[in-house]
Amino acid sequence: MTRPSEGAAAPPPGIVVLTGAGVSRESGLATFRDPDGIWQRVRIEDVATPEAFARDPARVQAFYDARRAQLADPAVAPNAAHLALAELDRRWPGDFLLVTQNVDDLHDRAGSARLLHMHGELAKARCLRCGAVEPSPQRLADGPPCPACGRRGALRPHVVWFGEVPLGMERIEEALAGCGLFVSIGTSGSVYPAAGFVAEARGRGARTVELNLEPSEGSAMFDEARHGPATRLVPEFVEEVLRRHGPG
Ligand code: APR
Repeated sequence: MTRPSEGAAAPPPGIVVLTGAGVSRESGLATFRDPDGIWQRVRIEDVATPEAFARDPARVQAFYDARRAQLADPAVAPNAAHLALAELDRRWPGDFLLVTQNVDDLHDRAGSARLLHMHGELAKARCLRCGAVEPSPQRLADGPPCPACGRRGALRPHVVWFGEVPLGMERIEEALAGCGLFVSIGTSGSVYPAAGFVAEARGRGARTVELNLEPSEGSAMFDEARHGPATRLVPEFVEEVLRRHGPG
């Protein structure tokens, strides 16, 4: 049996990154609970629950159509934080998963590949009749036909509402179980199950780091918390991680 060569480098730890609305704030998209946040202007129970959709689908469709239209604005582009996370994904030699609570497409456009949208995506629509998930027409309020089955008026935003099951939880649990580093970026830690990921990662012995504009509800759970804008904190942190473990 061959012995590992003396001083063999330890394999790079698995990394799980969780992002929230704060990572997209400097791209011009509002967060939810800041003073200028979305939930200061409209109530969750009016636009982000299955009951709201059953009660007044046109109002819910219009709310998401307006948010989807923002993504088409050339001024709304991936920022330095999105780009740094895409670079970490590209260059990290170990396991890596970026879990985002965001429904915008900025991580996708930045080039992140090992990416999971646990609250769905504004860019996709789901058919209530055939279940197909397809690229979303710009305006669902007009009742466009499902690209798969053709049924008109059966499309809803492919977004996870309060009271619905987040997407990809099995893959997320698996990544958390094996990660050595958990980084939370731009989230208030208000909504579960995402707010519980730090405890799961700690319980498995991972190093936990929070990068946020200000202390979040869960800051005390983290081994380290850095406060400031994501466009400054994230590139700095990614450079440190790659320098410590990345390839040449
Ligand atoms: N850089 C870093 N962090 C920022 C920045 C910034 N430029 N601007 C704001 N933040 C931080 C805020 O301090 C706050 O802690 O981002 C966080 C945003 O918190 P929320 O508005 O609660 O958004 P989020 O945590 O993503 O909400 C979670 O709640 O409403 C649901 O489904 C929705 O996915 C969302 C979930």
